[in-house]
Amino acid sequence: MRITVCLTDTRPESWIEGLRAALPDAEVSAWTPDAAPADHAVVWAPPQAFMDQQPSLRGIFNIGAGVDALTKLRLPPEARIVRLDDAGMSVQMAEYVCHALIRHFRDFDGYAADARDGRWSYRKPNVRQDFPVGVMGLGVLGQRVAKAVAQFDFPVKGWTRSPKQIEGVQCFAGHAQLDAFLAASRVVVCLLPLTPDTRGILRRETLQKLHGGRPGGYVINVARGGHLVEADLIPLLDDGSLAGATLDVFETEPLPADHPFWRHPKIDVTPHASARTQREESIAQIAGKIRAVEAGGDFDRIAGVVDPQRGY
Ligand code: NAP
Ligand code: GLV
Repeated sequence: MRITVCLTDTRPESWIEGLRAALPDAEVSAWTPDAAPADHAVVWAPPQAFMDQQPSLRGIFNIGAGVDALTKLRLPPEARIVRLDDAGMSVQMAEYVCHALIRHFRDFDGYAADARDGRWSYRKPNVRQDFPVGVMGLGVLGQRVAKAVAQFDFPVKGWTRSPKQIEGVQCFAGHAQLDAFLAASRVVVCLLPLTPDTRGILRRETLQKLHGGRPGGYVINVARGGHLVEADLIPLLDDGSLAGATLDVFETEPLPADHPFWRHPKIDVTPHASARTQREESIAQIAGKIRAVEAGGDFDRIAGVVDPQRGY
């Protein structure tokens, strides 16, 4: 069995070494344009040329949860995309979102500013019940985030494509219930996959519906930059419709140095760092799935196989 590794923006050596150790019978090497056809690929954002030159691929194992960089490519005819299934990401995402939420809710930035000036002053506490948190996407990451937020006694709402019942989360589904979900949420956390249905879902028209259309809405985007219409955000912050945003993902990454998000006083920026791929856990998971497929298992019996119709 041959495995080819093609990782944009990530050095492949440690991945190759780890995959060789986990799959001693496999030939594992870094992809080059003249590489022999492989059975499986381990990838992050490969170019179209990679797919065109690897027509025999059966499994395309993504080293991340989001597969939008793959679904936009023309794939080999038999290939199935397999996403990472948590592999250490959901706990990081829960940490990140709870941190952003609580930093805003408790006004820790205000206290930090006071501390810099040597000022001992209390700020009026916010009321938890006035801060319902709406999580868009209750998949592997969204469910973990919703549960973590609920632990702090915030009211939690969730929005998905198919109806769900999750203890402690008021669930909404489909476009028919999007407005009700937005109206019921003051803080919105985007954990959707980027698909044609979800691109631009955070835009003027939807953001204005947060918190029943009252000021005070807050945006946490940790999914993909393409979910937010970037040009719509700053006017809503500047006219007071929204209270702030924490953004980890952007339409263009790295975020250009002259992008206004960097310096906006109501926006906190992190460099796509909310939930990083954990190499060892990910190699173990991918190797386990490759072993299962090679042992005669069907792709439909391993977790994380992407449905090409849904795009996630
Ligand atoms: P997932 O398990 O595939 O869950 C996706 C969720 O989104 C599901 O609940 C799904 O609904 C819902 N959804 C999909 N399309 C929808 C639509 N049109 N309308 C309403 N709901 C829809 O994904 P995940 O593992 O939780 O990851 C989510 C995303 O996070 C990834 O796709 C990736 O872009 C992003 N991510 C970012 C980072 C980072 O560092 N910033 C790290 C990892 C992942 P159903 O339950 O009904 O199917
Ligand atoms: C990171 O953004 C991922 O999709 O895993």
